[in-house]
Amino acid sequence: MWKASDKLMATIKHYASFPATGVSLRQMVQFGETPSPGTLFRASQFLSEELPIRLAHRVEELNHLPDGLNEMPSIKKVKDWYAQSFEEIINVPKPSLSDEVKAHLIRPMRNHKKDSKPLSETTWNPSIREGQYRSSPDSAITANGKENRDPNHKGTNGNGKAKLTLSRRYFVPADDYADWPPEIDAYNQRFKRTLQQIKRRHDGVVTTVAQGILEYKRKRQRLQIDSSIQAFLDRFYMSRIGIRMLIGQHIALTEQTHAHHPNYVGIICTKTNIHEVATEAIENARFVCEDHYGLFEAPKVQLICKPDLNFMYVPGHLSHMLFETLKNSLRAVVETHGAEKEEFPVTKVIVAEGREDITIKISDEGGGIPRSSIPLVWTYMYTTVDQTPSLDPDFDKSDFKAPMAGFGYGLPISRLYARYFGGDLKLISMEGYGTDVYLHLNRLSSSSEPLH
Ligand SMILES: Nc1ncnc2c1ncn2[C@@H]1O[C@H](COP(=O)(O)OP(=O)(O)OP(=O)(O)O)[C@@H](O)[C@H]1O
Ligand SMILES: [Mg+2]
Repeated sequence: MWKASDKLMATIKHYASFPATGVSLRQMVQFGETPSPGTLFRASQFLSEELPIRLAHRVEELNHLPDGLNEMPSIKKVKDWYAQSFEEIINVPKPSLSDEVKAHLIRPMRNHKKDSKPLSETTWNPSIREGQYRSSPDSAITANGKENRDPNHKGTNGNGKAKLTLSRRYFVPADDYADWPPEIDAYNQRFKRTLQQIKRRHDGVVTTVAQGILEYKRKRQRLQIDSSIQAFLDRFYMSRIGIRMLIGQHIALTEQTHAHHPNYVGIICTKTNIHEVATEAIENARFVCEDHYGLFEAPKVQLICKPDLNFMYVPGHLSHMLFETLKNSLRAVVETHGAEKEEFPVTKVIVAEGREDITIKISDEGGGIPRSSIPLVWTYMYTTVDQTPSLDPDFDKSDFKAPMAGFGYGLPISRLYARYFGGDLKLISMEGYGTDVYLHLNRLSSSSEPLH
């Protein structure tokens, strides 16, 4: 079994003293549909520093969780995953390059008119309270100590003061040099394979941390988790969304140089069609509902949306949020009206297009939620399902059937996805009638990642 050495833990501690650097959706798409090997190489360089910093923060935080939570076997297991991934990234062998190639990598693109705009600035993420997360869009110094960086420097929320210098830029187009040596491409492929392995290792993080919380609740005989643990989970899962976004984006960009889908830059779709994504989420949620309650036909869902409405987003995130909220609504409708009912009230999904936001309202007549329980729905592990489905993190993923409900993670995680790109998720309920969920998605796409 892999174990972290003392030396590795010391290196992790060092990296954790540097702030993470936020990236916005708009910056992520600046790579364009076919980045050159040189541009990809520069992005790998950024990630080979940025990812270890983000991973190191998580290791440190897991190490110092209060009240004995850090001692739970599942939490330790997750911490080891983070430390091991950290080690793998910092050890990817760098290519040896000629001075000429190095010069081309450093030189900013000059002649390439189409993409020559500078990195767009990040703006304050409207979904985040001041001081809730820290990120530093203007940090200019590298963690490997080559340049001088003040570890005590603390940026705020990527609030527009972006002064990115070359060494810490996410997207820097390399110049339009034609002869990138094979070492560059070999390195890009090597880096991509390392990222793929890491991504796979971390697939089970959410369920394993949840398992760790259960272990803690049992050991410490806690019924609810307190606000410091709730805040930790919010930061932890938000950070995970960011890390997986950067990793997923980089893997897709590297593969994109071979096979290319129109309108896609990595995993971002510049023309995400809401009608299409919503239709699919509705079908999936209804299918899971029929399966779970043994219904001939799940309650109906009406979609009110312009068929050609599209915007820049990550379709995977959007379908996740819609699927989770729809499952909640369908469950509430079936359980309030009884599974033996022939006809159920229709759940409505209404999509509004504003200048700033696209807002999706999911309205059900599932009886609503008592006002006193509203704050609880945002806490992890809060569920009204009696028997939580088994939380075995070693389950075979190919057999994994999305459960109807039961972990108490659906709403809080969906809200993190919404906030990650500057949106939000709100819930308003009329007890005795039904619930409206408002999913706000920010169209401006310039807001920075919420980091800690
Ligand atoms: N539309 C709704 N109508 C009524 N109650 C709801 C609705 N949405 C959520 N709830 C309540 O909030 C609780 C938490 O929802 P959440 O989606 O976070 O977890 P869950 O559905 O119990 O489990 P899962 O993690 O599988 O989604 C639910 O158990 C349910 O009691
Ligand atoms: Mg749910």
